[in-house]
Amino acid sequence: MTHSSLLRSDQTLFRDPDVFEFTYLPDHLHHRDAQVRELAFLLRPALRGASTGSAVLRGPPGTGKTTTVRRVFREVREETRKIVPVYVNCRHDRTALAVYRSIFAQVCGCPAPSAGRYLDEIKQGIAARLHDENAALVVCLDDANYLIAAGTYNLLLYQLLRLYEKWDVRKAGVFAITSDLALNLYAEADPSVRSVFHPTEVTFWPYTKTEVREILTDRARQGLYPGVISKVLLDRIAQIAADEQDVRIGIDLLRGAVQRAERDGRRRVGPDDVTAAARVITAPSLRSRAVELSAGERALLSRIAERSREGREMTSGAVFEAAREYLPVGKTSYHEHLNHLAEIGIVDLVPRVGKGREVRLRYDAGDVAAACGVRTKPAKTRTEHEVS
Ligand SMILES: Nc1ncnc2c1ncn2[C@@H]1O[C@H](COP(=O)(O)OP(=O)(O)O)[C@@H](O)[C@H]1O
Ligand SMILES: [Mg+2]
Repeated sequence: MTHSSLLRSDQTLFRDPDVFEFTYLPDHLHHRDAQVRELAFLLRPALRGASTGSAVLRGPPGTGKTTTVRRVFREVREETRKIVPVYVNCRHDRTALAVYRSIFAQVCGCPAPSAGRYLDEIKQGIAARLHDENAALVVCLDDANYLIAAGTYNLLLYQLLRLYEKWDVRKAGVFAITSDLALNLYAEADPSVRSVFHPTEVTFWPYTKTEVREILTDRARQGLYPGVISKVLLDRIAQIAADEQDVRIGIDLLRGAVQRAERDGRRRVGPDDVTAAARVITAPSLRSRAVELSAGERALLSRIAERSREGREMTSGAVFEAAREYLPVGKTSYHEHLNHLAEIGIVDLVPRVGKGREVRLRYDAGDVAAACGVRTKPAKTRTEHEVS
């Protein structure tokens, strides 16, 4: 085998690998019509020379907030020059200077001057361009919670929303995004900011399993060759992503499973590929959930993991009897613990005819034990009587 054939990638199962990058802007945005309409409604007055409205976009991670704004902005850019949409990633740009430099580059189409009296010069450059074009500025502050942490949120909002007073330009709009549901971006604004900041709340709910499946089916169609993944496996991936309430997990999982099949020189993804990819991808979320557990819940969970590894009977009653020998736990709190583990998606409680419920781990038992912070040893000698 020559080197060129060794490295040749004609074996690939990916028609277009970019489709699985997190920066990829899908051609079709599923299930976000309502949010797109709300944002369009806020922008429309700018077409008639009036000012743009502002918005606060809220929703857990992976609910399409960034994608929705980027899609809307792309369309605006294609359709009109009366609105200048600017996207700022506040994870990267948190200081006032960094944010203004980013705005300058997008408004003026060239990097901001790097000498001189920074801020004022940059602001003036932005305003001059807007003035010349008689265009309205709309700034998306994505992940704006980073500005709050950096102490620049109020200053930037105040200055951006009042740009028009000093520079004779049209009043700007701000779309502020956060994935932190505990944070109220409007309440975080100072009274002086609130007098000019009247945002519409736009909420992004997690996608349902059906919605995730549609998004993933679309991605597979665009990014993979036909027949690489079956409907059944796509459905399984959609279920995992919906359980995790994050479509990004689905996209990563799809890519991971296909890469695994490709590495083994197979033309189709098999169930094992999905299982293996899921272990790698969902492990971090398992860990973050385990951290939130009470000591009692964690102790119970690690017993469940151990028992499951040993292949023992997993009915709720049997698990209780076994747990009782190690943990000071009564029946009531046992059921409370168990229900909580099910609620947060670590175990499923599957009804079994005549046998109550079966406790089934959603994750690999070894991963669960690791997430609980215990290393499971081979079973110690114990006087456990099986309850069946
Ligand atoms: N409605 C949708 N249709 C197609 N792809 C979507 C949709 N919503 C989200 N995605 C994809 O899911 C991923 C996460 O979306 P993103 O907009 O970054 O979420 P958020 O900003 O809410 O965290 C991206 O890869 C994006 O392309
Ligand atoms: Mg985002």
